[in-house]
Amino acid sequence: MSSASAPAKLILCGEHAVVYGRPAIAVPLSDVRAYAEVASAARGAGLRFHAPDLGEDWSADGQPEHPLSELARAVLARLGAPNDDLSITLRSDIPIASGLGSGAAIGTALVRALAARLGATLPPDEVAALVYASERRYHGTPSGIDNTVVAYEQPIWFVRRAPAPLIEPLAIGAPLTLLVGDTGVRSATRLPVGAVRERWQADRARYEALFDQVGELVTQARTALAAGDAPLLGRLLDANQVLLEQIGVSSPELERLVAAARTAGALGAKLSGAGWGGVMLALVTPETRDNVAEALRGAGATRVLGA
Ligand code: PMV
Repeated sequence: MSSASAPAKLILCGEHAVVYGRPAIAVPLSDVRAYAEVASAARGAGLRFHAPDLGEDWSADGQPEHPLSELARAVLARLGAPNDDLSITLRSDIPIASGLGSGAAIGTALVRALAARLGATLPPDEVAALVYASERRYHGTPSGIDNTVVAYEQPIWFVRRAPAPLIEPLAIGAPLTLLVGDTGVRSATRLPVGAVRERWQADRARYEALFDQVGELVTQARTALAAGDAPLLGRLLDANQVLLEQIGVSSPELERLVAAARTAGALGAKLSGAGWGGVMLALVTPETRDNVAEALRGAGATRVLGA
């Protein structure tokens, strides 16, 4: 049997604007992961999927258009073993539809486990490209940042551009202490992403200007990260939250957690991911961490993760 895993991810700043070519920064959440196991199946069984956490069982022959059936077939074709009979088990500790990149993590774990099964190692850019093709089926126009940070498993600077994205590992001057608060509200990425597209189409000048402001503060955040200047980074995260509210992807539940984190001493806080639900992040210090975690729970967070 071969097994592999992949981490959840957090967009530190720049979500949504990244779809429109502005830079964004993302970090892996290595303690929260998705797992894939690949074992032999009976001859002629084809590809059998078991995903107990998703409550799903299917076969690639029965559901050829399932994004994970397509992904597995693409990987096997790429590795020269298109007709293998395999039993694939997928598990995940990452809440779905919450801005933590669960789809990209499950896809990445699957690609890695299949490659391991065939004795191959795929470089991160190839893993990311395979998962990106599959993510497009879920989200329509993903920027590619999720699959990239998950496949590289390190903090990245990401700019969507043709023909290939710009991906740079990020220098971090001092360790960051982040907390993630889950609103418990599930929100499919494509809904806020689609709503932003409609608004952008209706008023390009306004949205391009908002995206420019996001891009500007993400650039400053890169400098703050490299310098280890957490107070400045916190102010930039707060400014990003204001812009995300203006872009129209925040929610009362997110704003309640953001406000609670700030009151309890966070250096900055904002929603993370597509918004309307899902998670927010708070930049804290080792001294304020427990207070802020307590405040997040008190304000209704269904789960608080350390990063
Ligand atoms: O909600 P998530 O984790 O899928 O993050 C989406 C990030 C967006 O910038 C809103 C969309 C994208 O494709 O980059």
